[in-house]
Amino acid sequence: MEHEQSVNLLRELEPVVAENMDRHLKVVRDWHPHDYVPWSQGRDFALLGGEDWRPEDTKIDPVARASLIVNLLTEDNLPAYHHNLVLALGPDGAWGQWIYRWTAEEARHAMTLRDYLVVTRAVDPVDLESRRMQLMSSGPAREPVELLPNVVYTALQELATRLSHRNTGTATGDPIGEQLLARIAADENLHMLFYRNLVGAALDLAPDETMVAITDVVQNFEMPGAGQPGFRRMAVMIAQGGIYDLRLHLDKVIMPILRHWQVFERTGLSPRGEAAREELASFLGQLDVQASRFVERRDERNAAVLSRA
Ligand SMILES: [Fe+2]
Ligand SMILES: [Fe+2]
Repeated sequence: MEHEQSVNLLRELEPVVAENMDRHLKVVRDWHPHDYVPWSQGRDFALLGGEDWRPEDTKIDPVARASLIVNLLTEDNLPAYHHNLVLALGPDGAWGQWIYRWTAEEARHAMTLRDYLVVTRAVDPVDLESRRMQLMSSGPAREPVELLPNVVYTALQELATRLSHRNTGTATGDPIGEQLLARIAADENLHMLFYRNLVGAALDLAPDETMVAITDVVQNFEMPGAGQPGFRRMAVMIAQGGIYDLRLHLDKVIMPILRHWQVFERTGLSPRGEAAREELASFLGQLDVQASRFVERRDERNAAVLSRA
């Protein structure tokens, strides 16, 4: 889809944005970052006369730690996502209002997570800061720049992030961490609803273009953390630990959203839209095979580790 066409379509969706913004503001629950951080566990670092972080300070298992770092850096990169949206849609109207509101909500996630990690000494704060500097200095966010795919991507990504925060919370083994991540996940769920509704309306308005965008995004989906230093290694740990893997990605993220959009029940597609849908169906089939293979291999590996122990 031409960029201009894409902008026009999203402009046409402005009333749906306004409607969903109202709905969002009615259901969203206000919360305060300071309430979720166990300040009593904190102590000074060396610069102020205390002790710097040591590996034995952390009480959290390495897989949960990797996931906390990836999730926090993903939230840290908010200015890059904000930039893409404002650049494409401008600061005015219902879109502008939503973008700024969404940004303000997202900003809470990074600040609360960082406070939690630093106060509890769950991760090395020097390593964390150097990763953040590296990521944020590296430029544009790794997400589709074209508008319609960007909105489709964001719908999927908000759900992926919701799941990842939730499972990471459980993996911390710390009730305080779990409560914080469940709180953040509840926000991500509301964000997902917003973008999911938008794409649903786009499908009604421009079925072929939207179907092409959906196919494109599902086929090329990468978590927003993919641009982070050391991401591949950490993503493997996160998948092996069952926090976020291909099986969950397909069954708990992609499929529920595609079902909600009634992607495979819709009529009225032109041959171009039909072709995109067929391509999507065959891709999902391949993904399912890969996901099953991944889980099998992981089970075998875990069984081997168990029997050695
Ligand atoms: Fe977030
Ligand atoms: Fe979000």
